Amino acid sequence: MSAQSSPAPSSSQSTNATPRKAVTLPSLRDMATAGEKIAMLTAYDATFARAADDVGLDCLLVGDSLGMVLQGYSSTVPVTMADMVYHTRCVAAGAKTALIIGDMPYGSYHEGFDQAYRNACALMQAGAHMVKLEGGGWTVPVVDYLTQRAIPVCAHLGLTPQSVHAIGGYRIQAKDDAGAAKLKADALALEAAGASLCVLELMPSAAANAVTQACKHMATIGIGAGNGTAGQVLVLHDMLGINHGRVPRFVKNFLTGQPSVSAALAAYVSEVKAGTFPDNVLHGY
Ligand code: KIV
Repeated sequence: MSAQSSPAPSSSQSTNATPRKAVTLPSLRDMATAGEKIAMLTAYDATFARAADDVGLDCLLVGDSLGMVLQGYSSTVPVTMADMVYHTRCVAAGAKTALIIGDMPYGSYHEGFDQAYRNACALMQAGAHMVKLEGGGWTVPVVDYLTQRAIPVCAHLGLTPQSVHAIGGYRIQAKDDAGAAKLKADALALEAAGASLCVLELMPSAAANAVTQACKHMATIGIGAGNGTAGQVLVLHDMLGINHGRVPRFVKNFLTGQPSVSAALAAYVSEVKAGTFPDNVLHGY
């Protein structure tokens, strides 16, 4: 699904006069088709969810990154379904109109269809409107099983942090022709299985752009993947400059020079919508 820049505001965007309507799968599809960039951010609690919703974030991802930024682990591997259900409930209590995506944590969709369905239902019942799961290949039938049962799915390709120990670190993915071709094949298979969105993490912008152009129904959301994707996502703590670990090059501190957290969140939305974040030189690979 191609993404142009500088579109007119869609019906999903609020103005001072009219409160915004709830963001839905069809409205996200309309945005991507019209070339309006999708602004996504992680959220883990009601207060930040409300603040992000108020300034026009389209999607709030209750990411398993909470294992690192809230719980202090060195990876997302220790995060449990109970953690994800709790934080999804918190975000759903604070958000009003943003579409909420609940992350399926490590090991929660690997045993088979029944386990994946049961855990996806738990996130939906906690207030998610969509679930996210990492990887291509073996996940394709799982995505198909969930979407056939009316559970919207966001896929996640490129760097998949739950596989950090298999990959051997947080490394750039799809760097060569073979990697880029595999990425594209995985993305097309996930799209055919019914995934509506796909996070593309840590890869050269050319690889992400090729996927974005090839997918007709699945909108791409980049993080460290250049500015040619249909939308962008960042981890909340990273973009507020309160990440105590190594800060990846693709991150920008939006609080710098802003008078408040709300202003920083609004600046992020406005830069994503304008297509000025990420800057491919400063934040790209
Ligand atoms: O868990 C998370 O926050 C994520 C984002 C990095 C996309 O998966």
